[in-house]
Amino acid sequence: MRIGVDYYPEHWDRTLWTADADLMRETGVKLVRLAEFAWCRLEPRDGAFDFAWLDEAVALFAARGIDVVLCTPTSCPPMWLYEKHPDIVHVEKDGTPTNLGIRSHRCVTNPTFLHYADRITIEMAKHYADNPAVVGWQIDNELEAYFCYCEHCIGKYRAWLQKKYGTVENLNRAWGNVVWSGEYSSWTQIRPPYGSLPHAWQNPAYMLDFYRFCSENVIDFSNRQAAQLRTHCPGRPVTTNVWFCEHMPDFYNQFAGLDFISYDNYPATRLPGDPESCYSHAFHLDMMRGVKRQPFWIMEQLSGGKGCWAPMEKPPLPGMIKGYALQAFAHGADTVVHFRWRTANIGAEMHWHGLIDHSNVPGRRFDEFADMCKTAAELEKLQGAEIKADVAILFSFDNEYAFKIQPQTDGYYYLEQLQRLHRAFAGLGLNVDIIGQHEKLDGFRIVCSPEMYVTDAGVAQRLHDFAAQGGTVILTTRSGVKDEHNNALMAQLPGTYRDMAGVHAVEYAPIGWEQVPVAFDDGTEVHAKQWCDILETDTAEVLARYNGDYFRGAPAITRNLYGSGRVYYIGTVGTQPLYDHITRMAVKEAELSCIPDLPPRVELVTRTAKGVTARFIFNNDDQPKSFMLDGQPITLAPFEMNVVMD
Ligand code: GLA
Repeated sequence: MRIGVDYYPEHWDRTLWTADADLMRETGVKLVRLAEFAWCRLEPRDGAFDFAWLDEAVALFAARGIDVVLCTPTSCPPMWLYEKHPDIVHVEKDGTPTNLGIRSHRCVTNPTFLHYADRITIEMAKHYADNPAVVGWQIDNELEAYFCYCEHCIGKYRAWLQKKYGTVENLNRAWGNVVWSGEYSSWTQIRPPYGSLPHAWQNPAYMLDFYRFCSENVIDFSNRQAAQLRTHCPGRPVTTNVWFCEHMPDFYNQFAGLDFISYDNYPATRLPGDPESCYSHAFHLDMMRGVKRQPFWIMEQLSGGKGCWAPMEKPPLPGMIKGYALQAFAHGADTVVHFRWRTANIGAEMHWHGLIDHSNVPGRRFDEFADMCKTAAELEKLQGAEIKADVAILFSFDNEYAFKIQPQTDGYYYLEQLQRLHRAFAGLGLNVDIIGQHEKLDGFRIVCSPEMYVTDAGVAQRLHDFAAQGGTVILTTRSGVKDEHNNALMAQLPGTYRDMAGVHAVEYAPIGWEQVPVAFDDGTEVHAKQWCDILETDTAEVLARYNGDYFRGAPAITRNLYGSGRVYYIGTVGTQPLYDHITRMAVKEAELSCIPDLPPRVELVTRTAKGVTARFIFNNDDQPKSFMLDGQPITLAPFEMNVVMD
């Protein structure tokens, strides 16, 4: 595992640079990320570039054997650019331009912004093309699929729709615009979703296309930057750093144009009291690995107490700095870059803590980081080791967007069932891949496809084939609900999945925060929450029934034999024991070997490299754990990772 740090030389007096670089080398840091947000120092005046300070910093690190990842600074245009072209900011929902003072408020569609963004990117790329210390590029920072309401975005949206639908009549039909006299007679009538009313009041078909457009828009920007970097600084891999934000671009499309994934990983430092909570970042890590089905980077890793965007939180507990970095490695991150070397003494983020505090006196967290760097070096032989999974969970950005557009009922969100299924399988010591729904399913034994809400015919067909050929599919409620435009389909649910599930819903009850008991045949009782499909079987057998409410006795969970495979249908959203129960059944039937008695919050990932099998056993808890694994006693301190190699 290669360890890096995020470093902002422009924030520090030059007298600190050398001591910082020396300490990094001594500690085992192999990489720094530089120049993110530094546009005002790289181009202090229009067209006047100054790379001398950055050259000096790059040289300082290179001399110590530390590689550099450079960032395009486009997230923070300089003040002279805003003064000259005040219209480059993005425009809010109420039609007003975003005020200055924070970052990322430029519109990535604005042609003037693009002219300047291209110029600084190309200048940087050319300048560092022959510098071997620069080993890669990060585009911008945490590009979000913002909703921007500027005239350029509106124009581009209309052109995007025109390309997609050809005529306004086609678009009117696809969106069902006859409702509320919403039919357009010209493209110029189309506007983005202005106003203060909730998005759920808008036409869902119109909203889904708007989400898709905003995602593609930001991907266009990222592809544009990638092309410039590749042309002018060839041979260096290009990425952008992402996180699970409110407006996520479609990562699968975004990274199709980039060389590797990088993710900003900030696990919570306060463990939830509620044992039901799916708090492990293993889910996010598996999802990131699944975006390109390749090893990935953490570009920002938890290093200190979070704060500044919200009141300050507890610092990472003893063990978390090392444990969470190793957890990321276990799940496929081959480079982990800590955010940040030292806590800023200036600026809005001075309470988002780095490895070293404001005092510049290395303390407990730094010592743990230094220890982790030693362990990372010892794990070198596992760099790139394979993570082979028999179980996959499918993710879809259309479903993520559609659930945001129309919240289904109180407390119901798209990711929950994916996370619960992930937790259940991971709790059995199984590797789990979280992959885009368009991926091939070859090689998996069990595929979970929760909430296949917006129907994609190709994906549905692949799931049918997978089950027919002997695979196990776990389907859930809210599947087959919508067509590709986000209009409701006229079919009993789960619509296109009905034949493979062998069951249909005669009614559904969105129960929000209420709970309804669900009883399995063997007497196990769990709880349904948020949603209850009231089912009638076609060919499926009933595994569990509701034990309350007006639909007491109706099937809640079924299993159908389909071709040579099996299809489970979970007609509800359950508490965690519901998923634990079903996954145990599915794993047993699929004859997968698992570890049925891992203690709660202990995670196990298996990686294989040439001739080596490594088990990463992680205690994701603030209590020590002792247990037997394959006849061997294992003892783990809070957040300790034990790597057992055969
Ligand atoms: C994000 C950003 C960083 C920094 C951290 C902490 O991950 O990418 O620049 O702002 O959050 O707030």
